[in-house]
Amino acid sequence: MSRLFEPFTLRGVTLRNRIVVSPMCQYSSIDGLATNWHMVHLGSRAIGGAGLVIAEATGICPEGRITPGDLGLWSQAHADALKPVVDFMHEHGARAGIQLGHAGRKGARFKPWEGNGPLTDGSAWPIPGPSALSFDKDWQVPYEITAAQLREMTDLFVTSTRLAINAGFDVIELHMAHGYLLHEFLSPLSNTRGDEYGGDLAGRAKWPLEVIKAVRAALGDDRLLFVRISAIDWVDGGLDMAQSVQLAKWFKAAGADLIDCSTGAVVPGEKTPVGPGYQVPVARGIRADAGIPTGAVGMITDPAQAEQIIAVGDADLVFLARATLRNPYWANHAAEELGVEASWPIQYKRAVARRRTAW
Ligand SMILES: Cc1cc2nc3c(=O)[nH]c(=O)nc-3n(C[C@H](O)[C@H](O)[C@H](O)COP(=O)(O)O)c2cc1C
Repeated sequence: MSRLFEPFTLRGVTLRNRIVVSPMCQYSSIDGLATNWHMVHLGSRAIGGAGLVIAEATGICPEGRITPGDLGLWSQAHADALKPVVDFMHEHGARAGIQLGHAGRKGARFKPWEGNGPLTDGSAWPIPGPSALSFDKDWQVPYEITAAQLREMTDLFVTSTRLAINAGFDVIELHMAHGYLLHEFLSPLSNTRGDEYGGDLAGRAKWPLEVIKAVRAALGDDRLLFVRISAIDWVDGGLDMAQSVQLAKWFKAAGADLIDCSTGAVVPGEKTPVGPGYQVPVARGIRADAGIPTGAVGMITDPAQAEQIIAVGDADLVFLARATLRNPYWANHAAEELGVEASWPIQYKRAVARRRTAW
């Protein structure tokens, strides 16, 4: 029996297996609206057999986008554009998630294939941060967001949550990782505020906790709330495992259902020990010490490796990104490799029967 292919049920949501397509920016939206690309990209990965497919980092407001091509969710038109994509994923047995976030001081940038750096063509918008510290030299210096503006920002997360419900999403993931606004509040490397939203870990976590509570209240009891964190900043003086275990305990009490355990990207020059499954110990540690379900992510590429992570209890879910870009059918191929019946769509059944016929 494969543990990777055991269903996973939390609240009112059941995933058919433990495989999650990790959120991945596609930079293919127009004015934040989903396009045909999202239907094909997300739809293919639902057909590919994953239990949950999470749509990319999605701006809660236009200024919250990393690039002008990012997905957004700030009006009913944005929800309407996503609904057929969600419906399609559901029709093919996958649950649908969306990652909500604000890019903070890492916003207003070119798409990766246009250079990835700060917008220098006159189209950049002002960007907020916990403190007026730029991410890197020659990057835009953010304005220090006020407490009143933070309350407005929390309301934007609530509006996006309601719109995500309208579009039919089962899971909201809050993006508190990779150096974007919520992570910038959590990390002492980017948050040097002197008010109640800075200082010690409790102060730095105050606004992220307000967002979690507000989103949980808007989401209701049936749908799931995941939180992606960068548990380790990989720089002296940054977030570490002890602080992140504490954060996970607070997040759980505030209404989070699962911590998606990533690391890094809040400052340049970090020393990340990248290798197969390099962030799995983070998922293991937070699951054991904070008593909350976790997702493991980062260089999980092989079915036996994914099976092992779930079987030994390092994590409850595995999140795969690049492996599923290379192969949208990763989950179905993993099922075949592990001797489990794959969930190929009916239209493709003749490809898997392996009959000795002409076609
Ligand atoms: C093209 C691309 C886009 C990404 N966009 C996001 C994103 O929107 N949100 C996020 O939290 N992580 C994002 N990531 C990071 C992945 O979700 C994942 O954490 C990382 O790639 C490590 O997993 P992997 O080794 O399976 O690729 C992105 C990664 C890639 C390759």
